[in-house]
Amino acid sequence: MKFTSTVLAALVATSLVVALHAQVKERPIPRIVKKDGRFALLVDGAPYLVLGGQVHNSSTWPAMLPKVWPAMEDLNVNTVEMPIYWEQFEPRPGQYDYTTIDTVLTQARQHHVRLVLLWFGTWKNGSQHYMPEWMKLAPDRYPHLVDKNGQAVDSPSPFAAASLEADKTAFTAFMRHLKKADPERTVIMVQVENEAGTWGTLRDYSPAAQKLFTSPVPRDMLDAMQVTSSASSPNWQEAFGPEAEVCFHAWSVAKYVGQVAAAGKAVYPLPLYANAALRDPLKPGAPGSYESGGPTDNVLAIWKVAAPALDILAPDIYTNDPAAYLKVLELYHRDDNPLFVPETGGAANARFLFSALGLQAIGFSPFGMDYTRGQDTGPGSRQPDEFLAWAMSYRLIGPMQREIARLNFEGKLKAVAEEPPKVVDTLPFGDWNAVVSYGARRDGQAVGNAEPTGRAMVAQLKDNQFLVTGFFCRVDFRPAGTGQQRKSQHSLEGTGQVPSALIDSRWRHRQFLRVEEGTYENGVFKFLRIWNGDETDWGLNFSSEAVVLRVSVATY
Ligand code: DGJ
Repeated sequence: MKFTSTVLAALVATSLVVALHAQVKERPIPRIVKKDGRFALLVDGAPYLVLGGQVHNSSTWPAMLPKVWPAMEDLNVNTVEMPIYWEQFEPRPGQYDYTTIDTVLTQARQHHVRLVLLWFGTWKNGSQHYMPEWMKLAPDRYPHLVDKNGQAVDSPSPFAAASLEADKTAFTAFMRHLKKADPERTVIMVQVENEAGTWGTLRDYSPAAQKLFTSPVPRDMLDAMQVTSSASSPNWQEAFGPEAEVCFHAWSVAKYVGQVAAAGKAVYPLPLYANAALRDPLKPGAPGSYESGGPTDNVLAIWKVAAPALDILAPDIYTNDPAAYLKVLELYHRDDNPLFVPETGGAANARFLFSALGLQAIGFSPFGMDYTRGQDTGPGSRQPDEFLAWAMSYRLIGPMQREIARLNFEGKLKAVAEEPPKVVDTLPFGDWNAVVSYGARRDGQAVGNAEPTGRAMVAQLKDNQFLVTGFFCRVDFRPAGTGQQRKSQHSLEGTGQVPSALIDSRWRHRQFLRVEEGTYENGVFKFLRIWNGDETDWGLNFSSEAVVLRVSVATY
């Protein structure tokens, strides 16, 4: 063969690809760990904070990706959440199409982001709309569940053995492919199904379901829900009364999803989670007013026991009520469950990323973050102000996400968001209290921001040194302890007044030794300047600027 320049170029290119491939060292598989009651998501062996964005439902198609990446860049994410569609993945029984997954893997790497892939399998928002056509056309084999009147509902039956087998097999093929195609661990987590459960009926009333519903509740479920019943082997109605149907359906759905998750995890043990369409956390309505069967707050214990292959049960938070938002964060931050918010929305809710971090969240992700839909008003639509609201926080936290994740895992970080009518938050750190105030006037009085946009994060680096950042707030430090604190506590909580450093010479006072502004680059704090004078005399003021301070304090 004559070595033309084209042949030569092709040979060089091929050997380059081979060499590059050989260079891709297999990285550790991401995993969730727990230490001293706190969780971390380890990626490349170290704690990682998901600063995510989830695309619209129909955006994981190669032709749509050019409208995804620019949005993710504008948002400053480090992780993109994208669905993988069963109907696309398995167009004919047993024939798998990996093209979309491979395209997404390649392009995510080119854009230097990680992925969380969402398996849109048996359930998507309670329905089976993502089952492949060949399944939809065989409803006898892959049945819907039936309501009280025997009518088929737009939701899959969790007792459909063939559907379960098909989902397990397809999900396993998907995970096996990921294992092979992703030694870089671009994919760091996988969501199993999407908002599994049922709308429109509380449970399946098929003969198979009826039989189980009237049979004794499995012992592990009674234990999980701490049921004490007069009957020694109560059935679901006897054990759970008005919540019997919801508990039974949660058990039925969780067992199914748990088996799909376990099958996939057996071939590739990535962290797996299931997401929940929530019920109102403050005024929960009766069963039927929320999606039945999903991991809502009242049945988390059922899901934990019935689906142990899932590492996380995660809330999709769309409420506009701040109190409800914070309550959801609390409910899903449990000793057996790391806090992860895979879907959320609303510009005003962007501040709650800080509240979530205050509860050691491993990640957060607004939904609908791509440019496939312009400025529409349909379901899941997003407005430009939302992009800005999230982007602002991500731009601030992004460069130091590894430090934040590590400090949080070590229990050294506290964070809050403004929640009217409170105008001051106090974050205790041993000998020091970090005092966060919102809407501080020139005279030091905190009156709250016009809109509650304040948020702050403080982490203890050494005994007297702190990492401090935030938006629309003032942060100051007070020596803690009975004597030293009395005066400031009084003036803070009594009147909303933010005391200056020179309150009362009988008490110890804070002085700033050194307030350094800087940025994190590759885990190292890069010094920019020292703050002093107007920048520190009233406390440390944070505006809309992304500012990170390293603050050393002492007393006098
Ligand atoms: C929650 C679902 O999980 C998403 O897939 C999407 O349908 C949104 N709702 C729409 O707002």
